[in-house]
Amino acid sequence: MNILHFDSETAWLAGIASLWRDRLRSNPALKHCLASGHTPVPAFRELARSVKQGQVSFQRATIFALDEFGGLAPDDPGTCKNMLERDLVNLVDLPRERFHFLNAQSSDLDAECRAYDQKIGTGLDLVLLGIGSNGHLGMNEPGSAPDSPTRRVDLHESTTQGAASYLSHGRLPRWGLTAGMKQFFAAKEVWLIATGPAKAEIVRRIVKGEISVKLPASLMRRHPNCSLMVDSAAGSLLTAL
Ligand code: PGA
Repeated sequence: MNILHFDSETAWLAGIASLWRDRLRSNPALKHCLASGHTPVPAFRELARSVKQGQVSFQRATIFALDEFGGLAPDDPGTCKNMLERDLVNLVDLPRERFHFLNAQSSDLDAECRAYDQKIGTGLDLVLLGIGSNGHLGMNEPGSAPDSPTRRVDLHESTTQGAASYLSHGRLPRWGLTAGMKQFFAAKEVWLIATGPAKAEIVRRIVKGEISVKLPASLMRRHPNCSLMVDSAAGSLLTAL
């Protein structure tokens, strides 16, 4: 795992945005899988600015949403699809038909997940993942096997409580659909991103603890091209000065 420990959140943002523009320039048909949540939002906004300034384009790119909460109304601003649309997809020049997302309203969730894996196909170019406080990736909660496919999952209590910060009501999701660890391992490149002091301990465990399904993010140390990108606060327990 490459560790990119930036000096500040500003440097972290500039670094991620610059690398992302580079990947889109080298491969304009970049096939992304993107997390929603709070951590990626500044990077999304920065890329949207880059598109407006004509520095880069999503015209030939594809975006797959990483996951989706179950039990929310389709127009709830806290669905992963709606967050991604608001913070990135609606702000860039991506053709709508190349934004894919999981439909948690489907009457056949297994078929929905199988179809998603088929759509992703032979692999993703870039997977951008936040990190849950319990080490989950997307909704691959502790215990998720490295070969787990896209599937329905029950959320751990900390994930359910974490979802409250995306919602304007108290009807918290207990389950969700998530792209699987298998898709992350098949991806050409994975970025794990974290900012702020609340992520420092989980970042330390991911880097310095044992590699275990109990901490799905630690499994990414076995990925041939995974970078952990942290600001000074999230990386504060990595360096013993
Ligand atoms: P966050 O979520 O980016 O909102 O902190 C990360 C996660 O729980 O996966």
